[in-house]
Amino acid sequence: MFLNLRLMLVSVLFLSLGSTSARGVASLDTLNDGRRNITDGQMLVSAGGSFTLGFFSPGELNRRYVGIWFSASMDAVVWVANRDSPLNDTAGVLEIDGAGRLFLLDGSGLTVWSSNTTTGGSGTPSSAAAQLLESGNLVVVRDDDESNGAVLWQSFDHPSNTLIAGMRLGRNPQTGAEWSLRSWRSPDNPATGDCRRAMNTRGLPDCVSWRGDAKKYRTGPWNGLWFSGVPEMASYSDMFTNQVVVRPDEVAYVFNATAAAPFSRLVLSEAGVIQRLAWDGGSRVWNVFAQAPRDVCDDYAKCSAFGLCNVNTAATLFCGCVQGYVPVSPAHWSMREAAA
Ligand SMILES: *[C@@H]1O[C@H](CO)[C@@H](O)[C@H](O)[C@H]1NC(C)=O
Ligand SMILES: *[C@@H]1O[C@H](CO)[C@@H](O)[C@H](O)[C@H]1NC(C)=O
Ligand SMILES: *[C@@H]1O[C@H](CO)[C@@H](O)[C@H](O)[C@H]1NC(C)=O
Ligand SMILES: *[C@@H]1O[C@H](CO)[C@@H](O)[C@H](O)[C@H]1NC(C)=O
Repeated sequence: MFLNLRLMLVSVLFLSLGSTSARGVASLDTLNDGRRNITDGQMLVSAGGSFTLGFFSPGELNRRYVGIWFSASMDAVVWVANRDSPLNDTAGVLEIDGAGRLFLLDGSGLTVWSSNTTTGGSGTPSSAAAQLLESGNLVVVRDDDESNGAVLWQSFDHPSNTLIAGMRLGRNPQTGAEWSLRSWRSPDNPATGDCRRAMNTRGLPDCVSWRGDAKKYRTGPWNGLWFSGVPEMASYSDMFTNQVVVRPDEVAYVFNATAAAPFSRLVLSEAGVIQRLAWDGGSRVWNVFAQAPRDVCDDYAKCSAFGLCNVNTAATLFCGCVQGYVPVSPAHWSMREAAA
């Protein structure tokens, strides 16, 4: 409790610093005129300390990526910038330009990755800042007198294999832009893998898993409270709330965490299984809170053929495109992770 209070005080301090200071002040969570770039080994840390952005190697040390992870658990990477174009050494630099574009450069100054920052129609900003928010979202905002604070780009709009509280899974019907999950290639390679998790927005919203072009599982349509094939979604509403937002510019599933909820993430594995993991700060492990496919009785026949069968799993949100595995308990599931 005392610790939490201190953390809160620290974040309040940072927040007030952020809002009262003029441009040009370097702070821990921001790239702006004060500090335009970070090099390998440097980091951005969100105001309350929950998330860190920096360079990392999930596997071989000569493949470097820029990503965001839970500070408490460096392995829990929630977003990767250059997933398909790793750096080969530690000479990389992440920088922001005045128009709010993020660039990841290799040692020779070549662009390995860049953000698709758009100016939103109100002219190119003369100054922009990138800030790692306490939610884990990296946002690029205007930092000049025109539309100060307008969001130009955000990492939440470009999910990797993970959904955290506040992120969307869905589609913008006006632009066709999609928020979907794409699995990693393997646990130590974040390159775009085979499995995709997206929302079908024709008719009633419905979440669908794909492996390549093959549809593998659907949750059934949203009934206002849960996806009809997944009634147990209602059973953990004390910790997480589930919502499907339907607006002209957005049809999306969003989950939110209550203030008392542990850190949580929904991860689409390389095999296409969706797991909801919750952080146990005491033992410093991620517990599998729920996973899908849920069991062979799931409605969608194709899912059953490749699905997990685990009638003891209390709650699952999504199903996936598992091939070759039929674990019957979370323990078996962990073994699969080890054997995979
Ligand atoms: C990064 O910023 C420093 C100053 O903070 C500057 O000296 C350096 O040239 C910058 N690096 C790149 C690649 O822009
Ligand atoms: C890393 O090395 C590979 C293989 O040598 C090469 O194809 C790739 O372009 C290099 N990447 C960078 C960012 O230099
Ligand atoms: C950036 O936008 C262009 C054009 O809209 C698109 O072709 C490209 O795939 C986008 N790149 C990324 C990384 O989103
Ligand atoms: C999510 O929950 C937090 C409190 O835990 C609340 O402040 C916030 O407004 C909620 N966001 C949405 C989109 O419901």
